[in-house]
Amino acid sequence: MKNDILLRAARGEETERVPVWMMRQAGRILPGYRKIRERVKDFQELVKTPELACEATIEPVNLLGVDAAIIFSDILVVPEAMGLDYQMLESRGPIFEKTIQTQKDIDSIRIGSTENWNYVVEALKLTRKELNERVPLIGFAGSPWTIFAYMTEGKGSKTFSVAKRMLYSNPEMAHALLDKITQTTVKYLKDQVNAGAQIVQIFDSWGGILSPESYEEFSLPYIAKICDELSKLVPVIAFPKGAFFSAKAIAKLNCNAISLDWTVDPAEARQLLPGKVLQGNLDPCVLYAEHAVIKAKTHKMLEQFGSKKYIANLGHGVYPDIPMDNVKFFIDTVKQYQSK
Ligand code: CP3
Repeated sequence: MKNDILLRAARGEETERVPVWMMRQAGRILPGYRKIRERVKDFQELVKTPELACEATIEPVNLLGVDAAIIFSDILVVPEAMGLDYQMLESRGPIFEKTIQTQKDIDSIRIGSTENWNYVVEALKLTRKELNERVPLIGFAGSPWTIFAYMTEGKGSKTFSVAKRMLYSNPEMAHALLDKITQTTVKYLKDQVNAGAQIVQIFDSWGGILSPESYEEFSLPYIAKICDELSKLVPVIAFPKGAFFSAKAIAKLNCNAISLDWTVDPAEARQLLPGKVLQGNLDPCVLYAEHAVIKAKTHKMLEQFGSKKYIANLGHGVYPDIPMDNVKFFIDTVKQYQSK
């Protein structure tokens, strides 16, 4: 592989410089992506057409010079594979036709299998071939709790009170659904690895709305199951967004790396997550500022994390209206940085 620094850093090995990539790097910030979107009926058509998903995956490698490609897809492939169809509404996000509220609803959905996500398998195979070993290919899935939140709410939410209501009023049912999602996700990620994903990330985007007690009952144990299965195969990065309150429990995950959001202090993360590779955590909104500010904040972050066991990234996905030039400047700043 021509550039494998992400894989080496994720395994905890020393690298000549800090690797860098961005969550949501393949999206509306890029001109090629916006053109591809015009060619398709909707977001799902793009996700389900391997040639287009491949094109969207590779564009940031060419244009931004990131050290990894992340397969163009969505965490909502999993609920759909289990039998819940959704629509992606322009600038409003996903809407599910049916939601899960009762045990009968849980019984009515299936544990997904390869035929339900074959388009992702094909997109990964094609992308590995087209990347031609230039940079590693990242596979991903949502955490079971984050998928549970979409399945019960049917859409995004500020409070996720419908999802949380089930945790408190019917914990057994919640566990039954989480277990079914977990079984599906393990199969899904194993298929991604077999199709060419060289490292995987688990996005727990909604972990931070739980209390430490409920996080450690309803989110973390299911992420742990996925880590146990997948870390036998490839390096695993867990992204417990907003859930650093449970850092001590997160430290016990059987994964290589933890991705941090911008609310986390690097020194504290090093102390509470001993041995883990850390990834993150620049506030994506820094990229709205002028170059001098981006450079200063990026250098500060690099100094604070140090050059070992570290992958530079944002604290969450890049926002679609951030100027591409600033995004590129961030990537270049990391790549040119010489640690003292
Ligand atoms: O470059 C990459 O990171 C790969 C592609 C990727 C997408 N979604 C493409 C996408 C990844 C890794 C995701 C993960 C994802 N999807 C998460 C976890 C990460 C996070 O941001 O917390 C979540 C919660 C989702 C669910 C989702 N998908 C929402 C809520 C939305 C609507 C909000 C929005 O940004 O428009 C999406 C749509 C989506 N997924 C887009 C992209 C590029 C935008 C669709 C478009 O307008 O073209």
